[in-house]
Amino acid sequence: MRAEFKIQDGWFFMSEHLIQPDHQDFVFDPMSSDFDRDPYPILANLREHEPVYWWPQARGWFLTRHDDIVSVLADEDRFSPNEVHWEYFIEPAEEVRNHPVLRIRDSSILSVEGAQHARIRKLAFKALSRRAVRTIQPLMTSLIEEVMAPLRGRRECDFVTEIASPYPIGVISRLLGIPGNSDREMRFKKLADAVVVAFNPMIDEATQLRSIHLMEGYLAEIAEWMEEKRRKPTDDLMSHLVQVEHEGDRFNTDEILSLISALLVAGAETTANSLSFGMLELLRHPDQMKRFKEDPSCRFNAAYEMVRYEMPGRFLRRYAKKDTDIRGKKVRAGQAVYISVASAQRDPLFMPDCDQFDITREPRDLSAFGIGRHFCIGAQLARLEIEIALGHFLASFEDIRLACSFEDVPFRSNPVIRGPASIPLLFESVA
Ligand code: HEM
Repeated sequence: MRAEFKIQDGWFFMSEHLIQPDHQDFVFDPMSSDFDRDPYPILANLREHEPVYWWPQARGWFLTRHDDIVSVLADEDRFSPNEVHWEYFIEPAEEVRNHPVLRIRDSSILSVEGAQHARIRKLAFKALSRRAVRTIQPLMTSLIEEVMAPLRGRRECDFVTEIASPYPIGVISRLLGIPGNSDREMRFKKLADAVVVAFNPMIDEATQLRSIHLMEGYLAEIAEWMEEKRRKPTDDLMSHLVQVEHEGDRFNTDEILSLISALLVAGAETTANSLSFGMLELLRHPDQMKRFKEDPSCRFNAAYEMVRYEMPGRFLRRYAKKDTDIRGKKVRAGQAVYISVASAQRDPLFMPDCDQFDITREPRDLSAFGIGRHFCIGAQLARLEIEIALGHFLASFEDIRLACSFEDVPFRSNPVIRGPASIPLLFESVA
């Protein structure tokens, strides 16, 4: 059989199979529009033929098998999330080295290690769980009603821009105690946009610097507000963060600003995209939609299945701290290792029917939210947000359908996050 090559959006396809990764014509581009829409055939190809793939354009290893991913994420002695260990790490320029925003970014829970990380995480958990037990559920319910209010009486909406994007950032903002529809809430949303860019090493330096300068003003306002809470605490996450104490230890101002930034980086866009993917997959699978609507008890696990089945993150990054070996490949100290959690969730060796979307599935593990010491601290929160937002939306509107074909749903182009840019819906309001 003769293989015929076709080039489409930068990808090479053969008539019968995807080109194997060891072929000279193989091109791997997880930023391409095909990958945005459906990364899973490419990931399956790598998983099968080259699970520890040298990705030349990114100068690092790309991992796709579940067991390799688990062992790298669990091993902080060999692999670090902190980019100072990267062989291509560039020290920030002299004039910005002591910039307060860089200080905050570099001491983020997402990248610090060892005792420093354990300490921040302990305090963060304590502050979050105080708030969590008491008031999260009613807060989420009233917020989704508020976000949906402008849709009443209408017969169409864009699910991404009107529901999925504003909701998770609203949850973080209300948790912190920021009053709804306030000037402070509007400025907090602007901080969220800036912080995602400023914390992203894959975005060009000039854009990052602009965002760092923008963040400075917003963070100064939050620091002022933090002082108000120190003087007069109330029952909200910001007050808990300033008060929380563990064995005589407390957060300082920079650490609280850093943690709030990390919650925004890790918790807003991820959950927004999972909500969007969740809605799309329910529409694509009417039997699952029926089950989700009829059986509220399945919704918390369903939320995990939505995250597992369509991962919003492209990959996690780790840097080798010493020379090591992964599946026979020599990984040098200083090299980057890109970890495809999306691929791990679709590894048939981990889960034989992994390509099936089944909201009644008991999660086998929660590795879509990471592994080891950096396991997501917002995992339960995210699942609850998805359960509540989709549950309320589907109960408030009926005859919900896509206003375009699935193939025409546009995807966003973002170097870190994957998800639909817009989901145009048609529906009738429930009387
Ligand atoms: C569907 C939504 C979400 C997904 C898929 C997700 C996924 C993840 C993953 C994979 C990690 C591990 C990162 C690593 O090992 O480098 C992580 C960490 C983290 N997540 Fe989430 N997350 C979600 C929602 C949230 C929410 C709602 C919050 C909080 C508001 C949050 C806060 C965090 C924080 C602070 C970390 C860092 C923890 C640490 O380094 O100790 N995430 N998340």
